[in-house]
Amino acid sequence: MNPLSGTRAERRMVVTGSRSGIGRATATLAASLGWTVIGLDLVADDQPAPDGDGIITFPCDITDELSVRRAFEQVDRAWGGQAPTAVVHCAGVYRFKAAIETTAAEWDTVVDINARGSLLVAAAAARRMLTTGDGGSVTLMSSIAAVRGDGGEPSAAYSASKGAVVSLARQLAVEWGPRGIRCNVVAPGVIDTPMTTVSGTPEIFDQVLQRIPARRLGSAEEVAQVCLFLASEQSSYVNGTVIAVDGGQSAS
Ligand SMILES: NC(=O)c1ccc[n+]([C@@H]2O[C@H](COP(=O)([O-])OP(=O)(O)OC[C@H]3O[C@@H](n4cnc5c(N)ncnc54)[C@H](O)[C@@H]3O)[C@@H](O)[C@H]2O)c1
Repeated sequence: MNPLSGTRAERRMVVTGSRSGIGRATATLAASLGWTVIGLDLVADDQPAPDGDGIITFPCDITDELSVRRAFEQVDRAWGGQAPTAVVHCAGVYRFKAAIETTAAEWDTVVDINARGSLLVAAAAARRMLTTGDGGSVTLMSSIAAVRGDGGEPSAAYSASKGAVVSLARQLAVEWGPRGIRCNVVAPGVIDTPMTTVSGTPEIFDQVLQRIPARRLGSAEEVAQVCLFLASEQSSYVNGTVIAVDGGQSAS
């Protein structure tokens, strides 16, 4: 058995943002390793059914408490009331906007999706993990933007929202750690997904690459591998930490 496949008895994973990018890669990788995977996404079919990878995606707006509650109730029904072993929360948005041009409404949109959504999803999962007493793993998605300002693509609301995710995860790790739930953060650098906006002109692309020691973008699959590590028992003593997946950018 691949060590990233969790344990034989417990390997149910909820992945948010499972219809695109990092979430999609994580859900697909987990399914290929034997996890039972349910996706939650704003983009979902009216009549959810397993896709070619065996992943079913239920509709969920992570900013909406009622929507999150209903989505997790669907998860409960699908798994006969068994709690998720792991949640990998990838749903999020990026907005490129200079600070002095950012309106309160734009701030709220980004912070609601990236920060509030993280709390709502993590708490919904943890309620179930705490009830069974089996513990589990919650992985949240931050960004290199949480630790580095960006003069080229300023994004005040995004950066602040991703900083909040790191603070939230540390708090959850301490609150839930004694009861067997680990909460960690993945902080991607520039990853080649539909969210990435750096592919504009060759000059801009080259400037971005010059800031990355690896001199290339990361792939969604490279982030997914780290998410699987954090979800599995391979990381059983890893809690409350941030793992950068950025080709060395945050070290430069
Ligand atoms: N791509 C990058 O370079 C990069 C870098 C750093 C951090 N991240 C973070 O990684 C995560 C995934 O990014 P990605 O590149 O895969 O993005 P993506 O745009 O490819 O996918 C995001 C997914 O989230 C879903 N989503 C958006 N709003 C939602 C909502 N309110 N409720 C439910 N689902 C919603 C979308 O439908 C989509 O499926 C995000 O949190 C992002 O901030 C990405």
